[in-house]
Amino acid sequence: MTKTANTMWGGRFAAGPDAIMEAINASIGFDKRLASQDIAGSRAHAAMLAATGIISDSDADAIREGLLTVLSEIEGGDFAFSTALEDIHMNVEARLKEVVGEAAGRLHTARSRNDQVAVDFRLWVRDQCDGADQALLALQHALLGQAEAGADWVMPGFTHLQVAQPVTWGHHMMAYVEMFARDRSRFADARKRMNLSPLGAAALAGTSFPIDRHMTAEALGFDGPMGNSLDAVSDRDFALEFLGAATICAVHLSRMAEELVIWSSAQFRFVKMSDRWSTGSSIMPQKRNPDAAELIRAKIGRIFGANVALTMVMKGLPLAYSKDMQEDKEQVFDAADNLLLALTAMAGMVGDMTANQDSLKAAAATGFSTATDLADWLVRELGLPFREAHHVTGSLVAMAEGLGCDLPDLTLAQMQSVHEGIKQDVFDVLGVENSVASRTSFGGTSPARVREAVAHWRKALE
Ligand code: ARG
Repeated sequence: MTKTANTMWGGRFAAGPDAIMEAINASIGFDKRLASQDIAGSRAHAAMLAATGIISDSDADAIREGLLTVLSEIEGGDFAFSTALEDIHMNVEARLKEVVGEAAGRLHTARSRNDQVAVDFRLWVRDQCDGADQALLALQHALLGQAEAGADWVMPGFTHLQVAQPVTWGHHMMAYVEMFARDRSRFADARKRMNLSPLGAAALAGTSFPIDRHMTAEALGFDGPMGNSLDAVSDRDFALEFLGAATICAVHLSRMAEELVIWSSAQFRFVKMSDRWSTGSSIMPQKRNPDAAELIRAKIGRIFGANVALTMVMKGLPLAYSKDMQEDKEQVFDAADNLLLALTAMAGMVGDMTANQDSLKAAAATGFSTATDLADWLVRELGLPFREAHHVTGSLVAMAEGLGCDLPDLTLAQMQSVHEGIKQDVFDVLGVENSVASRTSFGGTSPARVREAVAHWRKALE
């Protein structure tokens, strides 16, 4: 049986589409998520059409009211989406016609689905920037809580995942506060640039109707209309910027997640995840697995994947709109959903986890972690050039290693056999507490600096 032609554009068509044509063409399965943005855009457009005298006030009122009815049907799960009607735009308009009658046919004056989808998607991505910002803020607060509690808890700082120098727990937590602050500024920056309205660009060339694009832009919370109609309907750089910011944020999340996986292992025991954020094993009763951290670590795969996918979709497309661009949405939806999930889970895990101060401190003292402090002492107290101090310290480390002890376990006589100028007070700098307390340079790990940083960020995040 041949289907009848589409009611929205079927004037020049004798027959309807092949079933597979319909399947490849339809986006309603996913773009129904744009329903509220679509209806907001249409309501703004209808009000503008009336204000400029393009349609009557009574038609605009009927359209605007009817759209609210359609929205409540959709939100109430009381709406029959149709694949034959392709996308959210035509599904809404077709239902509007059933609700308000002929007036619905005037809504699409001076508009195209091309500017319609561009405005819907911009509004949706703009909301996601705000959602990511809120989730990042909550995560920063969770980190600040940890940093404040453990401003002076000593732990090993690593380079190459080898113990390098002692640092403080608070300092390590605050490193992520800084990273997530930059992520927030990237979303804010992208949001600012995307906050211009494509509505009124129509299909690609603008329109001969006397529309007021500033009015619709303002009604939708945009800073103004986009300046070029071809650009307005054909670029998706705003979505790419969102995905770029999301990718970098997911990189940060994955690094933190990896640390939590390592830290919660039996070999490290730096942190204990709460029961709420751990899972057991169906076969090994002793297990407490950090599944959420592992999943957060993995989310970068689909988020960066979305970034790559949309970049490839957009590459080489001639201006203006091409249907290729319908492939923009699922990627961004998936990336945004998973970013939000990962951020929220990370905030929950961080807020609930308990640092094991004893393990942290014991690990901080391993691996000759205060060797740099010893070298610095030789420079400061004996006036040695740093290179020579480095060499002397290296010999002392080798001696301790040979004796199977740590640097503070060497006797003064043993030290003096390497450099006769070494005095008893060298032992003051070999303790990990003294080591971190001495790192008072701006941005350094000393508890005093960490407390300053916590206070700074508490205020900044108010
Ligand atoms: N569903 C389409 C999309 O997501 C809407 C725009 C369709 N425009 C067109 N000229 N066929 O991109």
